[in-house]
Amino acid sequence: MKVLVTGGAGFIGSNFVRLTLDERPDAEVTVLDALTYAGSAASLPASDRVRLVEGNIADAEVVDDLVREADVVVHFAAESHNDNSLDNPWPFVQTNLVGTFTLLESVRRHGTRFHHISTDEVYGDLELDDPAKFTPDTPYNPSSPYSATKAGSDLLVRAWVRSFGVEATISNCSNNYGPLQHVEKFIPRQITNVLGGVRPKLYGAGLNVRDWIHVDDHNSAVWTIIDTGKIGETYLIGADGELDNKTVIEMILAGMGEPADAYDHVSDRPGHDMRYAIDASKLRTELGWEPRFRDFAAGLADTIAWYRANEPWWRAQKAAAEAKYAKLGR
Ligand code: NAD
Ligand code: TYD
Repeated sequence: MKVLVTGGAGFIGSNFVRLTLDERPDAEVTVLDALTYAGSAASLPASDRVRLVEGNIADAEVVDDLVREADVVVHFAAESHNDNSLDNPWPFVQTNLVGTFTLLESVRRHGTRFHHISTDEVYGDLELDDPAKFTPDTPYNPSSPYSATKAGSDLLVRAWVRSFGVEATISNCSNNYGPLQHVEKFIPRQITNVLGGVRPKLYGAGLNVRDWIHVDDHNSAVWTIIDTGKIGETYLIGADGELDNKTVIEMILAGMGEPADAYDHVSDRPGHDMRYAIDASKLRTELGWEPRFRDFAAGLADTIAWYRANEPWWRAQKAAAEAKYAKLGR
């Protein structure tokens, strides 16, 4: 099976490539990645079953050459960070909307199976005391340029299924954690701060809730959907991992042998979504998927250990990421 993975040099995509090599002996992987600040060839496993093509998903010629030879396209590539989208939304429009459009036109031409990776943030946010979680029927209500462009990309996929018969599925997943995540994101930022002798930074009061899932659980669900999902359907991926940010920072500090209050409150993110929570029952009941990582504390300990052991990987990103935060006052 020839698998084209867009954004495969980023966090979730590179873990997807690793999982695919481990669990799919018949798979050959081509990664199409622009190697932006968020992507690195060093995140990919060395294997003669993996080929990296440096290129942009909005470049129709490059895309078409690779889609022509693929059996399935798994589309992870995106501008993925809310804080960046508040600073400069344009790359989000270009990659998340124009890039997804370019891929859709190509899979339409070649009749190629397409799986679109998206986020629960397309649904906006929930109140802390809302008994409801996001379901595939929740109306779209994105808050930031990041989530708005992801929502737009989902709608493009739905339209290409309905109007042109493209064979696509969509998944919307909650917040991922695990190895190889860029240090701009919440959990790796705090771990690498502590490793560098800097205090973690909590936005606002830290009451915002995220629904954490291990990256390998996200990716095993993606393979389940590719294998057994129904064309045109949307599946929500989550593992019942709701925690507020203050609790997560305290767990990181405790796991690294620091006092639980050794962090700083910094100014809040504008328009900061309060709570995300996924109801994954459709994926569980219709496709029989179950998460393997049910112990967040254990997964977090493994993630801390990974960053401790891989300083050369993250050190390369750290100064630039913190310079962006300094500009934003966070
Ligand atoms: P990431 O920022 O770590 O990686 C994105 C990758 O895409 C990078 O390798 C980057 O170089 C590449 N890329 C960016 N623009 C490109 C372009 N124009 N052409 C080709 N490659 C390009 O992101 P991530 O956290 O791994 O997220 C991957 C996908 O999963 C995204 O679609 C994101 O919306 C979605 N998602 C992420 C999370 C999360 O918690 N991180 C949760 C749910 C869904
Ligand atoms: P993030 O990893 O940026 O993911 P998302 O915005 O997609 O949820 O942030 C996760 C949560 O952590 C979010 O509520 C913002 C908060 N946060 C902090 O409190 N401090 C930080 O340094 C960062 C980067 C995020």
